Amino acid sequence: MDARSLAPQPASIEASRPAERVFLALWLPTDLAEVLSRTARTLTRTCGGRPTRAATLHLTLVFVGDVTSERVDLLRRVVPSLQGTAFRLTLDRVGLWRHNGIAWAGPSTVPEPLAALRHAAEEALDHAGIPYDRRPFKPHVTLARRVERPLPGPVDIGELAWDVTEVVLVRSGRDADRTARYEVLASCALLPTGTF
Ligand code: 2AM
Repeated sequence: MDARSLAPQPASIEASRPAERVFLALWLPTDLAEVLSRTARTLTRTCGGRPTRAATLHLTLVFVGDVTSERVDLLRRVVPSLQGTAFRLTLDRVGLWRHNGIAWAGPSTVPEPLAALRHAAEEALDHAGIPYDRRPFKPHVTLARRVERPLPGPVDIGELAWDVTEVVLVRSGRDADRTARYEVLASCALLPTGTF
């Protein structure tokens, strides 16, 4: 798992943040991340903005936000027992949200197991008494931030098939040079279905 090999020194995050910023995510496998990273770099050459590094590409399942270390400990215990089945997610759309300058890749249809997984995660967090961002789920992989100009036209990425088999609990922080860094704190294997 890329996120683990990227593993930062947790102490630097602890030192810079009294609260810890955490979220549940699906992490892109290396091959798909490389493809999307190339798309991100091409896009930013035309439209401006900062492309996301390949190793940090992910889809946020639930954004929890800044929490105390006690809550992080609780989340570490909750996440491994999430219930969900593995599924194939087809990334076939690229878009730009002008209001926040985020260029993204996503699926044109949300597969039922992904919606069910989000629901299961919400229920688990509710049960544990952990607040999270309840805004409607818009599954996307952020390709670039601070994009300045509209996309010149449709961006064709074909149909990128992503076999999702794991949910990770991630802590985010920043290096001294402000580069985003992520650390996987816990994970949950999704039940295999035998379809891929
Ligand atoms: P984004 O890529 O669309 O910004 C870590 O910040 C992850 O959590 C990102 O994938 C980010 O989505 C997502 N996220 C969702 N809600 C957020 C919020 N209110 N603040 C920061 N990140 C948020």
